[in-house]
Amino acid sequence: MQTIDRVPTGIPGLDGLIEGGFPRGRITLVTGSAGAGKTTFGIQFLWSGAVQHGEPGAFITLEEEALDLQQEMGRYGWDLKRLEEEQRFCIIQSPVPFEVAGVSVSMDDLLDAIHSKAVAIDAKRIVFDSVAALGLPYSDPVRLRRDLHRLCAMLRELGCTALLLTERPEEENRITRYDIEQFVAQGVIVLHLSRKYRGIEIRKMRGTKHDTNVHTVRITDKGIVVNPGEHPF
Ligand SMILES: Nc1ncnc2c1ncn2[C@@H]1O[C@H](COP(=O)(O)OP(=O)(O)OP(=O)(O)O)[C@@H](O)[C@H]1O
Ligand SMILES: [Mg+2]
Repeated sequence: MQTIDRVPTGIPGLDGLIEGGFPRGRITLVTGSAGAGKTTFGIQFLWSGAVQHGEPGAFITLEEEALDLQQEMGRYGWDLKRLEEEQRFCIIQSPVPFEVAGVSVSMDDLLDAIHSKAVAIDAKRIVFDSVAALGLPYSDPVRLRRDLHRLCAMLRELGCTALLLTERPEEENRITRYDIEQFVAQGVIVLHLSRKYRGIEIRKMRGTKHDTNVHTVRITDKGIVVNPGEHPF
């Protein structure tokens, strides 16, 4: 049987649910409501990749100031500044493309910035935070879909194992904001957050044997931990 190379996620308890990790060189969508742990999940993947597996990583944020991010992630013991100085990590901070608050950034600019910085550190892992923010200025879903495909094509070309973070609307029975994100990714992971529990669910992962239960998740001083087999309901 053909095997697919796996990239360890760095999230304790998760690899065992997905045959050892994310499929190498592919794109996985991580969706969840506000505060579900998406950014932590993404940075933990990059941190462990750089520190434990010698795989440099790039984090693209349209959501947060790099300094805020460094401080927040520092709480988990992840010194992103040091990693950046060592060329094992980089943050690409960009405004949402198009005319926002007088700043004009095009999708081309954003793709160029990602490409050149990823190449500069020889990135093997990339996390994009977030597709929900990227889509804000688009009134035409066809254009958003096209640009999302351009982003994904570039990530595939770079050969990186990538996570696209996005937001899950709280009020509805949908898993993504624009209802198109899940179609550009080969895998979809949902982070659940309710008043009673945090959880994780593998919705799809092509070429991977995985279960579809919701497993309990905890956010600790060292980041996200999955408790496989512990179901919240
Ligand atoms: N040391 C910690 N111990 C336990 N929980 C923590 C700790 N640090 C942060 N958290 C929890 O993690 C949440 C934030 O996680 P994160 O920023 O990764 O979520 P997010 O899904 O990216 O949020 P947003 O929707 O705002 O982008 C906080 O709201 C808090 O509940
Ligand atoms: Mg976030």
